[in-house]
Amino acid sequence: MVLWIHPVMQALAVCLSIYVLHLGWVRFRFAHLGRKDAAFPWRRHVRLGAAVLATWALAFALGLGAVWWAWRSVFVTGRHVQVALAMLPLIAFGLGSGMVMDRVKARRTLLPLAHGLGNAVLVLLALLQLYTGGIVLWNMAFG
Ligand code: HEM
Ligand code: HEM
Repeated sequence: MVLWIHPVMQALAVCLSIYVLHLGWVRFRFAHLGRKDAAFPWRRHVRLGAAVLATWALAFALGLGAVWWAWRSVFVTGRHVQVALAMLPLIAFGLGSGMVMDRVKARRTLLPLAHGLGNAVLVLLALLQLYTGGIVLWNMAFG
């Protein structure tokens, strides 16, 4: 049972991240491509985006804890834990840059672009984790 907490939390956050990325795309089209056809729900993007990134960070620790609980060792899942480590700095940057842009309102170009690009890469890596984590689950069940 304990071993399911991490995969379920992460998979739900991956689903939500696609919606948050969609909201960011609406902002991108408005700010850089001059498309004014859809409004950017600022507060919803900030709340759901923070929920996604906080879940990924918290459940990272839970994943380590679960692996330790089951095998008395960590960093044993190969590609899955390697990608997870690469995600950590991007999670910190996504949260930090998002909080700055939310709290100190200003006309900006570079920071939103870096935030959007970093977080889009993060969503791709999280989708990859669905696959590498699925392999870990498969090996746990049938390996
Ligand atoms: C999965 C997480 C997230 C994704 C995929 C994401 C994606 C994006 C994208 C693509 C943009 C458009 C950037 C541009 O116009 O160049 C954006 C803008 C923005 N994001 Fe996020 N974001 C995420 C999390 C967050 C978080 C956690 C916060 C705040 C704590 C946040 C706050 C903002 C703000 C305030 C803007 C508008 C900035 C501006 O135009 O001045 N985002 N986001
Ligand atoms: C998206 C779906 C994901 C699935 C299905 C999944 C699956 C798993 C499984 C089955 C484990 C073994 C422990 C356990 O069962 O609780 C695990 C461990 C772990 N996962 Fe995930 N995971 C996912 C996403 C993520 C993401 C997004 C991250 C990083 C933010 C991550 C980071 C980790 C870490 C750090 C461990 C410990 C690995 C080790 O010490 O070798 N996982 N994951």
